[in-house]
Amino acid sequence: MTRLLINIDHVATLRNARRKAFPDPVEAARLCEASGADGIVFHLREDRRHIQDHDVVGLKQAVHGKLDFELSTNEEMVSICCATCPDLATLVPEKREEITTECGLDVIRHQTILSDTVDQLHQAGIGEVALFVDPDPDQIQAVRDTGASAIELHTGDFANATAGEEQLYEVHKLARAADVGHECGLTIHAGHGLDYNNYSLFARSVPHVREVSIGFAIIARSVFVGLGAAVTEMAQLVKRQNVS
Ligand code: PXP
Repeated sequence: MTRLLINIDHVATLRNARRKAFPDPVEAARLCEASGADGIVFHLREDRRHIQDHDVVGLKQAVHGKLDFELSTNEEMVSICCATCPDLATLVPEKREEITTECGLDVIRHQTILSDTVDQLHQAGIGEVALFVDPDPDQIQAVRDTGASAIELHTGDFANATAGEEQLYEVHKLARAADVGHECGLTIHAGHGLDYNNYSLFARSVPHVREVSIGFAIIARSVFVGLGAAVTEMAQLVKRQNVS
């Protein structure tokens, strides 16, 4: 069974464009849950380009399903995450100049800092820590040694592949990576660029995926059909693939 978690950063991006109090990502999170989402994801970036510290407090209070706090290993972010104690903390790489997260963590290179951070998050009572990784078996095997219990597979290259052959190549890479993660005893999550068009192929092809994190496609669709309907459509798509 794959569960749908919705990333609401894009609601905060829209709000911040006019430095207003609306649209409120906390209200959006409530509506997402009421419309079929199993949980909510947010990324508190060091530059605070979308989610703000007060949103974190509001989301912790408002979200009844699973709350996934995405963060870098930056000391301040880790300390806020520990104080928030979400259900899941997902460690991601962060570059100031990027538009969005561009790649997975280099777990092999940053083994020490990642292990220390995973340990700190566990010590704070956070039950599940995931590392965002590219579908690279060597990187996934290295996750085991950090103490993290889950990986979030970066689906961006799959999502960006346009030609059928390239898309199949990328989805097979993800499938192999999910198998490797599963064999390592890790829980498999996935996300980045998943949408109403590519989700079915992804779900049919990639095994063991317990959670997907989807944001942009849903918030973009909500401009035309409303947030509740956009969430329900995606929730139904995920459900249909769960039973097929
Ligand atoms: N997972 C991670 C680690 C991300 O950084 C993002 C983007 O914020 C997502 C999932 C969701 O990606 P999208 O907004 O393209 O659905």
